[in-house]
Amino acid sequence: MSSFTNERIAPTSASPNMKNYEQARGHFRWEEVESEFTWHETGKINMAYEAIDRHAESSRRDKIALYYSDGQREEAYTFGQIKSSSNRFGNVLRQLGIGKGDRVFIFMPRSPELYFALLGIIKVGAIAGPLFEAFMETAVKDRLEDSQAVAIVTSPSQLPRIPVQDLPHLKHVILVGHDLRLEQGQVDFHQAMESASEELDLDWMDREDGLILHYTSGSTGKPKGVLHVHDAMVQHYYTGKIVLDLKEDDVYWCTADPGWVTGTSYGVFAPWLNGATNVIRGGRFKPADWYATLQKYGVTVWYSAPTAFRMLMGAGDELVSGFDLSKLRHVLSVGEPLNPEVVRWGLNVFKQRIHDTWWMTETGGQLICNYPGMAIKPGSMGKPIPGVDAAILDDEGRILEPYCMGNLAIKTAWPSMMRRIWNNPSKYEEYFRFKGWYVSGDSAFRDEDGYFWFQGRVDDVINTAGERVGPFEVESKLVEHPAVAEAGVIGKPDPMRGEVIKAFIALRDGYTASEELKEQIVRFVKTGLSAHAAPREIEFKDKLPKTRSGKIMRRVLKAWELNLPTGDMSTIED
Ligand code: PRX
Repeated sequence: MSSFTNERIAPTSASPNMKNYEQARGHFRWEEVESEFTWHETGKINMAYEAIDRHAESSRRDKIALYYSDGQREEAYTFGQIKSSSNRFGNVLRQLGIGKGDRVFIFMPRSPELYFALLGIIKVGAIAGPLFEAFMETAVKDRLEDSQAVAIVTSPSQLPRIPVQDLPHLKHVILVGHDLRLEQGQVDFHQAMESASEELDLDWMDREDGLILHYTSGSTGKPKGVLHVHDAMVQHYYTGKIVLDLKEDDVYWCTADPGWVTGTSYGVFAPWLNGATNVIRGGRFKPADWYATLQKYGVTVWYSAPTAFRMLMGAGDELVSGFDLSKLRHVLSVGEPLNPEVVRWGLNVFKQRIHDTWWMTETGGQLICNYPGMAIKPGSMGKPIPGVDAAILDDEGRILEPYCMGNLAIKTAWPSMMRRIWNNPSKYEEYFRFKGWYVSGDSAFRDEDGYFWFQGRVDDVINTAGERVGPFEVESKLVEHPAVAEAGVIGKPDPMRGEVIKAFIALRDGYTASEELKEQIVRFVKTGLSAHAAPREIEFKDKLPKTRSGKIMRRVLKAWELNLPTGDMSTIED
């Protein structure tokens, strides 16, 4: 939660990219943005064509599109080379009979091959499903099952976490590795790429055809598959231009993993649609390595997250002073509330304002932002970008006055808006319960200057280190442990990670609470679901508060944790 201040940090220079659109506020038309794409002539589009091939066929052919490093590999690829490699992968898929509308997942650590695969999937009209590399078997299985994926691109180290035998529709496993011993249904990525042609007639798509499926968490049920379509490119291109402020000479680094929406919308599409040089860093977070990456590539535009900034801040100012970051000219943040003290720290050490941006997996692209050329109020997410209307609504859908806390909602629609929740139309409808509005699930207020201030989630979704975790998914895993009778999971405020996951657990008869059992249960979630979804804290209780219909009342658990009044308990069990 951010508290209101009226502090303002003025921009140091005007933004020519933004100026025209800002002037157009009020009579903004998305069509004007669209006119910059080649597909205007035929009405048919392909995201991978506009992001890569269009540049490869222009004077940008030999421009570096991708710098990749992870401590072991260090490589650079031009737009021309990425065009060829993604063409090859498109041909590999076609040879397997994969095409339009098929779901093809990617489950591997960051590497250039991951990006070639992603673009190749898109080129043949298939729908890409990127999975966070740290997912374990249950998380992988749920997503592949729900989407009925026909193929997955993965690495030998991830392979044991894909329960192929339980996924009858999964026909092909494409392995990125060396010296492979292939089993039935497996394909050697490198070998297949080598024998594939680098010429490809890509599939021309309709604007509303599926592009990418990102699974994300709600407070109830299994993760939801959020479907985005090729039309999203309009938003990605536009926000890349006006919010990321990308220009011809920029070297851009988005630190997010492509398993999450930031890592695709702004780690792949927005920078390449704008023809920028994109830096991808694999490997783990280490402050010195991150600063070295900024210095080495002369990063000019940098998009990261509050948790990372807080960890860098924690690593001390002396560390950063050892690096030359003078090329850096624009810094942005997303995923969780950006603390005013982090903004002040950024001004001090980078001599840069950190621009907070707000959006969600479901919205596909940035909507409320601190963009170049506007004054920043530290602690505020900024203002709706031109073309976007936002409001705070009460629980009946009425627009609230400034400073009233309520539901953050966006007027429909915008190009990168999700088009579907896979297999779950009723879930999709829930977002649009007030006619003409998309209801975000966040609570916020607006001030009289039109700046929005994040206050929290309306539901029980946990945001730990900028990653969204659904309590239900964690609880479901916890109760699979033989010692666990019941489990309730909440987000507990944490200065570094925003929130950490805390589990309240009632044990089965015959089990006694111990530190050892706690550790065992944590390990069980880590190895079964995902490290980032494992509880950092466990508290054993004799009984958990439940409604009469048997639902665990997370609200009460949270109140216990925060020493707050538990509120209305009339629906509790006994
Ligand atoms: O609660 C908001 C928080 O992250 C949620 C969306 O998470 P996800 O779909 O994983 O997408 C993250 C990156 C786009 C939101 O409902 N959130 C996102 N940005 C901000 C934020 N909370 C506060 N300030 C932000 N700038």
